[in-house]
Amino acid sequence: MADTLTITDNRTGKKYDVAITDETIKATDLRQIKVKSDEFGLMTYDPAFMNTAACRSAITFIDGDKGILEYRGYPIEQLAEKSTYLEVAYLLLHAELPTKEQLTAWTHEVTHHTILNENLKSLLDAFRYNAHPMGRLISTVAALGTFYPEAKDIFELATRRKQIVRLIAKIITIAAFNYRHRIGMPYAYPDNDLSYPGNFLNMIFKMTEPRYKPEPALERALDVLFILHADHEQNCSTSVMRSVGSSHVDPYSCVAAAAAALYGPLHGGANEAVIHMLTEIGSVKNVPAFIQKVKAGEGVRLMGFGHRVYKNYDPRAKIIKKVAYDVFEAVGKSPLLDIAIELERIALEDDYFVKRKLYPNVDFYSGLIYQAMRLPMEMFTVMFAIPRVSGWLAQWQEMLEDPDQKIARPRQVFIGSQKRDYIPLEKRK
Ligand code: CMC
Repeated sequence: MADTLTITDNRTGKKYDVAITDETIKATDLRQIKVKSDEFGLMTYDPAFMNTAACRSAITFIDGDKGILEYRGYPIEQLAEKSTYLEVAYLLLHAELPTKEQLTAWTHEVTHHTILNENLKSLLDAFRYNAHPMGRLISTVAALGTFYPEAKDIFELATRRKQIVRLIAKIITIAAFNYRHRIGMPYAYPDNDLSYPGNFLNMIFKMTEPRYKPEPALERALDVLFILHADHEQNCSTSVMRSVGSSHVDPYSCVAAAAAALYGPLHGGANEAVIHMLTEIGSVKNVPAFIQKVKAGEGVRLMGFGHRVYKNYDPRAKIIKKVAYDVFEAVGKSPLLDIAIELERIALEDDYFVKRKLYPNVDFYSGLIYQAMRLPMEMFTVMFAIPRVSGWLAQWQEMLEDPDQKIARPRQVFIGSQKRDYIPLEKRK
């Protein structure tokens, strides 16, 4: 049986054979289908890319029906249990797990690039005291690129690699400094003896003690959360990263753009919405009434439930639930936990949710963990952005090295006016 698709154009009666590769057909193969020879040819119309693969990728695999997530072939469950975020970042970028020596060198390299140029502090000072941490992060990353003019040489491999290291390293410092500025605390500088998540906690929480010692349970929990959020194939912000990068601009500009996409409430903001929802429910006894409201279709959704891709338990949610308990044991339980557990219990048994395949997603418990860590809600999307930097960069690098890729330039179906003559102002009605 040939791997082709035969299309009959009923306008002309002509038949076309189009090759099928990896369960896809090439949209450009449709261009030969036309009624008149001077026509543009057939296109596909796919707003929001619901059924269009924009790249071939070897980085992250998701099977939404089975609830599978793998980075470079390694199941997320194994990585969350056995790996560290920096090792995962290496894996995403290099396609293979590092050897012991490679991991030591990589960790040393990232750790020794966490310091920010002091001039950036004047930029941070320019923000209003209550500026949102994501707005600050986006601007600071873009500004950071101006300190490294060589970053535009994206095809110089050593230069490219240096920017990748800088971005992964400095994103924690940018996030932490912005937070400290917002709460009026002096900046805490990176400590090279600490791990990546430990260093972040140091820069966020260090007070007057000469040396900050991260609580091991929090440090590990954060590392696992970073692993779970590192990549998720072609989501909105990753598509932005690839699209902006396809113009061959420097990676700082690309990461700033991708972070801007993540900032949106439909993307990185759901963990915050879960906390609002649980707070509004207020008590376990109000859960059944809330579920009824959701089922009545009164525009109320169970935040942290459902996913465009996963029609099964989000594998990340299972891991996060366990992490949540580890964190609560170390720092005390969130008062909202009991409400979350009851909500999940009822929803998983209820026909409405079962029929629609609505399961907890990654955001159902992550907000509770960040809250227990005493991070303000506005930092939640920042916590998502930090580890996603490695995923964005891996996808950007893959895009640059892919001979199939060109500058992103979607087509449109034009539905505006036909050609008409300019009307002088005095003649317009
Ligand atoms: N609560 C109640 N009903 C829901 C929910 C929900 N959370 N999600 C979907 N439904 C219903 C929806 O009303 C529809 O029902 P019906 O067929 O009767 O009209 C059906 O399920 C299918 O919903 P949909 O809107 O077509 O599904 P989608 O794939 O377009 O939406 C989603 C996916 C994540 C936007 C949606 O499930 C949702 O709004 N969830 C709550 C927000 C949330 O937790 N977002 C975090 C996503 S994970 C983070 C990330 O990876 O970025």
